[in-house]
Amino acid sequence: MSGERFLKGAKITGVGYYVPEKILTNADFEKMVDTSDEWIVERSGIRERHIARDDQAASDLSYEASIKALEDAGVKAEELDQIILGTATSDMIFPSTACLLQEMLGAKNAAAYDLTAACSGFIFGLSIADSMISSGKAKKILVVGVEILSRITDYTDRATCVLFGDGAGAMVVEECPPGEGILSTFIKTDGKYSDLLYLPGGGSRSPLTEETLKKGEQYLHMRGSELFKYAVKAMVQAAKETLDKAGLGPEDVDFLVPHQANIRIIEGVRKRLKLKKEQLVINIDRVGNTSTASIPIAFGELVESDKKIVKKGDLVLFVAFGGGLTWGAILFRR
Ligand code: UT7
Repeated sequence: MSGERFLKGAKITGVGYYVPEKILTNADFEKMVDTSDEWIVERSGIRERHIARDDQAASDLSYEASIKALEDAGVKAEELDQIILGTATSDMIFPSTACLLQEMLGAKNAAAYDLTAACSGFIFGLSIADSMISSGKAKKILVVGVEILSRITDYTDRATCVLFGDGAGAMVVEECPPGEGILSTFIKTDGKYSDLLYLPGGGSRSPLTEETLKKGEQYLHMRGSELFKYAVKAMVQAAKETLDKAGLGPEDVDFLVPHQANIRIIEGVRKRLKLKKEQLVINIDRVGNTSTASIPIAFGELVESDKKIVKKGDLVLFVAFGGGLTWGAILFRR
């Protein structure tokens, strides 16, 4: 066990997720842009993705996921000490979506705040929750990952629009005896490559004006094939370092839940870590890339599909990579 652990442990005690009902299939995109089901499946592994209703904002999706996670944990909203919410598509620039969610849940004792780490946001949030709890500063924290990427997607750009979906996932993290629950965490950033995936407009650098709207600055911009090169390497590093810190190896892992950006990235990580296909949790075919929501949705689906599938004591590894660049991993025993 690494020397970074404190006197208390932190454990994931509840999981919940929500994806909107509306589905866009590859066949739908064939009618919108110059693409094909074959290209999308072969290059990304995606077949369909969920899209939020016009009247839904990030806080609404977060609420649906959060009430399920709280119920799963048997925790009341008033018991929460903190709400940490990862998103790049908050309801508005401020107040934070976490503040809005706090009010919706009635979590009146929780300090609530958003963090932005693109697709790694949920892992960054879990890592902070682990530190807060293991250092005795909080006992119960709700961590949420939510994204309505359809609001920042240019549906005339075939290189990006086929990839993204909407959704939310949430987990309750609670104090537990040391050595149980979260065993190690790893988070990392390299701002040198911030121009590989970004949303230029609407911030203080380039406020939205008629001119910036005309340039499409309200949409996310991505240099996909360049990002791809860093993704596998970064996720493998995060997995290895997190396992090393806990004195464990890839062979000890029961379930690897990777960020769902591309099936070829996931396969690349699996091969480099010499994992079996059965150890991987994959749902990219049905939900697309939901950015920071992808890991809690994938794990939520797995747990919901069969309560006995992830057994007590099983070793689970979450690994993410995203714009920033940001990447990280969380290793825990169920
Ligand atoms: O969530 C975390 C951050 N995201 C990532 O890490 C994403 C990483 N990148 C990727 O997943 C892949 O790079 C993509 C799926 C985005 C693209 O796959 P690729 O194999 O890297 O394709 P490419 O961008 O190199 O494009 C190859 C060709 C191009 O045509 P030419 O120039 O070779 O004639 C594109 O114009 O495919 C074309 N293309 C498409 N064709 C049909 C791009 N998008 C499409 C499309 N349908 N939707």
